[in-house]
Amino acid sequence: MNASLYTIPGARDAAPSAAGADASAPSVAAARGNAPGHSVARTVGEVLRESQVEAVLAELDRDLIGLVPVKQRIRDIAALLVIDKLRLNVGLQAQADSAKPSLHMCFTGNPGTGKTTVAMRMAEILHRLGYVRKGHLVAVTRDDLVGQYIGHTAPKTKEVLKKAMGGVLFIDEAYYLYRPENERDYGQEAIEILLQVMENQRDDLVVILAGYKDRMDTFFQSNPGMSSRIAHHLDFPDYAQDELMAIAERQLAGMAYRFTPAARQAFDDYLVRRMAQPHFANARSVRNALDRARLRQASRLFADRDRVLDEAALTTLDEADIRASRVFAG
Ligand SMILES: Nc1ncnc2c1ncn2[C@@H]1O[C@H](COP(=O)(O)OP(=O)(O)OP(=O)(O)O)[C@@H](O)[C@H]1O
Ligand SMILES: [Mg+2]
Repeated sequence: MNASLYTIPGARDAAPSAAGADASAPSVAAARGNAPGHSVARTVGEVLRESQVEAVLAELDRDLIGLVPVKQRIRDIAALLVIDKLRLNVGLQAQADSAKPSLHMCFTGNPGTGKTTVAMRMAEILHRLGYVRKGHLVAVTRDDLVGQYIGHTAPKTKEVLKKAMGGVLFIDEAYYLYRPENERDYGQEAIEILLQVMENQRDDLVVILAGYKDRMDTFFQSNPGMSSRIAHHLDFPDYAQDELMAIAERQLAGMAYRFTPAARQAFDDYLVRRMAQPHFANARSVRNALDRARLRQASRLFADRDRVLDEAALTTLDEADIRASRVFAG
């Protein structure tokens, strides 16, 4: 098979002027050591200032509760990229194409552990350091890549790749691409196209595979080609109860709501019960629970036609808004 068949147009190599044309990405030019009028960065501090990556890392630390091992890995990857830039700036990279950092990643963890959120931050970091031109994230699942009929998969996959070029392609539950039980499954075709683009256009597209850890491990065992192209594996742990509580407070504050002390206690009790139930989805379940509490608060306020609703009334979730959940039933 001709490898160039799967070169996606609009990519960096196909459009050499693209880096210069994108004024919002000065770091791209800097990464290539040709930013006009700028002295080339020679210290870590200079690269961090120039790229403003420090700000993204600080935001990640501040906005996301817990996730200590994940945050550390992101810092490690950022360090690798910053050093890579400094190497490039002294002319090292040009000699060793194979030394280019491989950036494809795998994020494993249960639902609602922050994989998509962190992937978006990662895209931003890669963009600021000039490893992708645009820094957007295209999130897809099997259905976006694989067609139902013969001949439909390649165009679908290529269309998605085209959209993702210059950014990050995030493939949720990537293992569904591989269905060994179905001999003629079109998923295999999508995998083959992905593999080629991950190899040939890895300077302009970063692929992040996401999903449950055990299923991803099985997928990699059956797809060594995919496994060998993934350089970074990040495992997202389930949140502890106190972290979920902190996430709830953070999400509420973001929506301009707050708990009364009794409501906070009720939500703590809610979490204990909900965590023990099936289909608990970490921060996503917290989000859903808060959305339902807001609905109950709204119904409660709606029931009283004559009450003047001041800011306190409109922003406060009461104990009853939490305890009415069916999690407390029975
Ligand atoms: N550590 C965290 N701190 C604060 N909010 C978080 C954290 N992790 C996740 N969230 C919030 O929880 C929600 C779900 O997170 P996200 O979509 O990133 O999880 P996911 O692992 O991609 O889940 P899924 O597997 O269900 O797609 C988002 O609204 C996100 O902002
Ligand atoms: Mg997600």
